[in-house]
Order: sequence, then structure tokens, then C-alpha cells
Amino acid sequence: FAAPVNVTIDVAKPGAVINKNVYGQFAEHLGTGIYEGMWVGPESPIPNTKGWRNDVLGALKQLHVPLVRWPGGCFADEYHWKDGIGAREKRPTKVNTNWGGVEESNAVGTHEFFDLAELLGAQTYINGNLGSGTPQEMSEWLEYMTSDSKSTLAELRRKNGRAQPYKVDYFGIGNEAWGCGGNMRPQYYADLYKHYHTFMKTPESARPKFIASGGNDDDISWSSTLSREIKPNMMDAISFHYYTVPTGVWEKKGAATGFGENEWISTLSRTLRIDSLIKNNIAAIDKNDPSKKTGLYVDEWGTWYDVEPGTNTGFLFQQNSLRDALVAALNFNIFHQHADRVRMTNIAQMVNVLQAMIITDKDSYFLTPTYHAFEMYVPFQDATTLPVAISGNGKYSLGKVSIPEVSASAARGKDGKVYLSLVNTNPHKAVDVNVALAGKQVASVTGRVLTAGKMDAVNSFAQPQAVQPVAFNAKAQGGKLTVSVPAKAVVVVAVE
Ligand code: AHR
Repeated sequence: FAAPVNVTIDVAKPGAVINKNVYGQFAEHLGTGIYEGMWVGPESPIPNTKGWRNDVLGALKQLHVPLVRWPGGCFADEYHWKDGIGAREKRPTKVNTNWGGVEESNAVGTHEFFDLAELLGAQTYINGNLGSGTPQEMSEWLEYMTSDSKSTLAELRRKNGRAQPYKVDYFGIGNEAWGCGGNMRPQYYADLYKHYHTFMKTPESARPKFIASGGNDDDISWSSTLSREIKPNMMDAISFHYYTVPTGVWEKKGAATGFGENEWISTLSRTLRIDSLIKNNIAAIDKNDPSKKTGLYVDEWGTWYDVEPGTNTGFLFQQNSLRDALVAALNFNIFHQHADRVRMTNIAQMVNVLQAMIITDKDSYFLTPTYHAFEMYVPFQDATTLPVAISGNGKYSLGKVSIPEVSASAARGKDGKVYLSLVNTNPHKAVDVNVALAGKQVASVTGRVLTAGKMDAVNSFAQPQAVQPVAFNAKAQGGKLTVSVPAKAVVVVAVE
């Protein structure tokens, strides 16, 4: 018999607001993430709107996708925006040197991306090319997208079908400058950032938030150097990337399915590292920016497994199981704790690539367990965090690895309800959680749970609804809740 875990939510002490963009997405020109997965072109027999497939759009709308980052990733630092405007049949064909060496038709360019964002009702995050482009090319792209003048570039945008300026909400100056973005030192990149940023001129009303490309994993030198060298009036945020690799070894990362319990726990344990990595980056930035103006945007995160056997290694195609849903929920709970600085994150990636929401094949598609985790957490978008204290939390252990059994997060949603998310990392046993809400009477509680019989349970074209959330009963008595969280499960309850 295991003693219950006690969770106390202090409803009277609201904290930071969880920016809805913490639930942002990333769509790169990579594999079938954009072409086939989302973009089929207006002439396709697959039903589409302006070339974007309707089934995928419909599913993504349920996630209230707040923001999309495009066109990369590594792809961004080789992308020349003028290749992607004007008549599609006249656009140049390039080679996608980063991802599989395949032909890039440039069918999806600036106008098509903004169509997608508008169809989803999402904000836009354009990642500019610092690695192989010039300051002139970057500043002209911003002018083309945002200028309301009669300049030649603004007129060219109008000629290409868009009268009004586009709204660029965020602009990233380069990507992974320590690697595919140019193999630079942080000092060198900081100088280049300032150089490029100097020419990114827009009227104040059209000014995007500017993002400097930061470090990854446990390297905080980028956060330290960039926050020291670049003043907040030139930089709104520093980005940070962290991928969860089950084995921790890039050459043999581990499989998306068919893994043993050792890789279940190592994956969850490695994903939980992001908490200390975020804290270390924040501490580094705090030294130079104690007033917390500069955001820390985790603009790439998620699981990265060995590709599915027989698929192009450059396409980063992987299945997605219940384990991925728990990874997503654990990350959300951590991001909420850092809501004051972590005002945006982008899971990698939206469709068919890495930890995707949706997997497609020709005109079919299915939703992944990760999709369902995102959908269950929609009420946390723009919600206000509430402090959560946990006592009596057990440990789930295997061999030398040990992680907390329960992860919890609470917030007051925009609808006034208190939302509580609970993750049980233990694949063997349910956990009873007693929830006290200090400063609130409990009138009613509703909830949903996402779990499955097997750790690596998946959805597939044959069984698209094998893993999906179902209604969940939590007991409310005398102002307290009792929540029995099944083994290996994500639960979200709404308390009124
Ligand atoms: O998401 C896939 C790749 O991972 C991105 O292009 C790059 O930024 C990172 O290394």
C-alpha cells in the first residue's frame, strides 16, 4: 500500500502568466514535414485550402496553435527568401543540403507560410539566414514582408498578391550558430547579431520581437555571452535547444517503439533535465539582465529517436508513443514553472518530423499521443500559474535511475477555472493524489486522462484512436479532491 501524495494549490497567490506561445510549433523544410505532410498544392486532389491540406489544418486548429516557427532550423541558414516568391512554376529548384539532399522546389515560400499562419490563426516566427545570407538580404526580407510604403519591395509583395503588410511577430537572426548555422564562437555570433540587427529597420508598429540564437544542452556560454554583449534594446530573447535522446548517444539514440523499461525511464529522466538546464540559462542571463527583459525561448525541444527502419535518415521520421505524450506533459509542467522568462517554446516538429503532432501518408493521417497531450493542455495557454506544493511524492526507480513519480502543475485558466495537470511516470502503479485548494471552494471537477496498456502504445493508420484521452472521474469532497492517477498517465482536471 502506497501512501497518497499530497498536492496543495495556493489559489490566492497567482504567479506569472503562461504565454500561449509556450505551446508554439516548429515547421521546417525537412522530410515530409511541410511538403506532403501539410502542403499539397492547390491543384492536389487532396482537399486543401490555398494548398494546405484541410484534414491537417482542421486537426491543428483544435490545438489552438498559437505560433509557428518557419522555415528552419538548419534549413533557415541556407534559405534565400527571393527563391520563394512569385509564380511557383518559375521558382528555382535547390538542394536541401541539410535534410536528405532532396530537391527543394520552393513551392512553399513567404506568401504560402503566411497563408498557413492565417488559416491557423497563429502568430508568426520567421527565422532569418545569418549563416549564408547577407545583412542586406535579411533586411530586405523584413521590408518585403512588413512595409506599407510604396517601396519597390513592398510593391513587389503587392504584385505577388498581398496588398497589406504581413505581421511578423518574431524574427530569429540565425539558428544554432554553434553548429549548422556557421560553427561560430558565441563572441563572434554576438558581433554578427548586432551587425545584422542594425539593418533590420521597420516602423515601430511593425517591429517583430528579435531572437538571438543561443546554446543547447548544458552549454550556457551562449546565454552568458549574448546577454552580456547584446543590450535588451537590440534583443528580446535568447533561444535555447534541448532534445531528449533516450540513450544520450547521438549515434545510437534508441527506437521510438519496442523499447524496454530502461529506455522508458532514461527518456523521462533525460527530459526532466530541461528544468535544471533552463535554470542554469536563466541564472546566466539574470547576471546581465536582472530586470528579466530578455526572454529565454526554448525554440526547439522534443524527443529525437533513431529514424524508422527503411526511411530516409535525413527525414527524421519517427513513430510517437504514449512515452512521447508523457515527455510533452513533463516539459509543459516545467515550462510553466519558468513562465516569467520562458515565454515561447516550439516543439520539433509539427507534422511527420521528430516528435510530431500528426503523421500523414498520402491522403491519410492520424493524430499522435503528443497531439493529445497538446490538446489536453490547451486551457493552460495564457493561464495564470498557481503555486503547487507536493509532499510525499514517491520515487520511480530502475537500476541507477530514479525520478519523481508525480509531476504537477496548476493554473487559473482564462475561463476562471483552476486547471491541474498530473503526470504519473511509474509504468507499474497508480498513484492516489490528495489535492487541497487553499483559498477556493470546490463545486465540481471534470477531467480527462491519457494512458494505454503499453509504454510504447501508438496510434497508426490501422488504429488511429488506440491512444486518446478519455473522461476521468476525480472525487470532490469537503473542499478537497482525490485524484487516482493511473500508471503511466497524463491527467488534466478542471475545478470550478
Ligand atoms: O529539428 C531538427 C534540427 O535540429 C533543426 O533543423 C536544427 O536547428 C536542430 O539541430
